[in-house]
Amino acid sequence: MLKKQTVSVVTFGCQMNEYDSSKIKGILKNHNFPIIEDYKKADVILINTCAVREKSEHKVFSLIGRLLLIKKKRNLVIGVGGCSAEVSKDYLLKHFPALDIIFTPENYPKIAQFVENALKGQRSIHEIIEDNEEVVVESMFEECGASACISIMKGCDNNCAYCIVPQARGAEISRRPETIFKEIELALKSGVKEIILLGQNVNSYQFKDITFPQLLDEVAKIDGIKRLRFVTSHPKDVSDELIHVIKQNRNICRNIHLPVQSGSDATLKRMNRGYTYGHYREIISKFKAAIPEITFSTDMIVGFPQETEEDFEKTFQAVKDINFEGIYLFKYSVRQGTDAEKMDDDVTPKEKQRRFDLILNYQREMVLKKNKSLEGKIVNVLVTDFSKKDKHKLCGRTENSKAVNFNSNGEVNINDVVDVRILAGFPNSLEGEIVKNN
Ligand code: 5AD
Ligand code: SF4
Repeated sequence: MLKKQTVSVVTFGCQMNEYDSSKIKGILKNHNFPIIEDYKKADVILINTCAVREKSEHKVFSLIGRLLLIKKKRNLVIGVGGCSAEVSKDYLLKHFPALDIIFTPENYPKIAQFVENALKGQRSIHEIIEDNEEVVVESMFEECGASACISIMKGCDNNCAYCIVPQARGAEISRRPETIFKEIELALKSGVKEIILLGQNVNSYQFKDITFPQLLDEVAKIDGIKRLRFVTSHPKDVSDELIHVIKQNRNICRNIHLPVQSGSDATLKRMNRGYTYGHYREIISKFKAAIPEITFSTDMIVGFPQETEEDFEKTFQAVKDINFEGIYLFKYSVRQGTDAEKMDDDVTPKEKQRRFDLILNYQREMVLKKNKSLEGKIVNVLVTDFSKKDKHKLCGRTENSKAVNFNSNGEVNINDVVDVRILAGFPNSLEGEIVKNN
């Protein structure tokens, strides 16, 4: 029987958090808690937080502050999980003493218990890692639509100078292939067509003698996966075997997310990234030689400590040189306990913004040009939903993640993979018409 108290999970940050939130919701559903979208109406609000940049944590803290004001007026349980629950636990306890639950992924098997306790007025604050039980939650993919994220590993063994993730998520642990396959099977059963394999650094996946290219190859061969993606790859660990596996399996999307972070060797060195821009460029060339239609997206940071105008120019040059399909661009912000915290954050906020705007404006122009060049061409689209602007239209994503809105012929359903002729290219999307149902 369903319980009376409703739960809502608010997710910040990356796809790993999306995956974790699906798991939390699945577990609570199994314990008969009704899950609702609108957190303002919920009796229990669990916030899955992100601490990767200063701005991300500010957003989290300000939401907690607002919710605690509501808690003064009505019965409300508030729980905080994710990266802030790890790296800012003391801060949370000090500044928000009315929080009911602070939890980490290791607590998921007990999350329903934590919520039950909180509803009875008992607090649950995670201690150190308790156990590493691998929970497979049958219902976690029920609401994920066309595309499901599946974690293949936790944590990160790298030590990029700016990054808080190793502190938040701990050392790398690769999940058992059987667990990964089981979750993929559950996702496909729920109607999913696209699988996204997740890890902080998927290329260093290793379970016994199974490496990432081997795992990817096996996953690609599973019947029913129309599209397969993986994030995030670290350039220093990209192998020829990986390129070969992608070439051999047509359902692996020809768009690779490969964070470059900077185009300057001096900056890359201070960032402790373990490669030079020349090496990065070589990987791109190898991919292109093997798979000519391949495209790339990337992460970049501007204003890293001691980034000179010359360093920045090299990053800008990399943007022009590689012609990325998409750039996730960030202004450097210091994170406590990282190696970069000890460096002098000497690029002024104004200068960071100037560098940010230069790349962003250039990239916007390039993307618009690319989108316009697709007019008249036919692209393959995974249908994900009805169009937000016009309910008579459908929307979906191309293989390189461009959003497409298109007129349907009435025979197309959400989760289908279809061919669409592009009629118009805009800065952030494409407009088209259906060609045929695959
Ligand atoms: N400041 C700015 N950007 C950061 N990133 C990670 N840490 C920081 C930081 N301290 C960016 C990197 C990473 C992405 C997820 O977030 O580009 O790849
Ligand atoms: Fe952070 Fe570097 Fe690990 Fe990515 S590879 S999570 S940037 S430490």
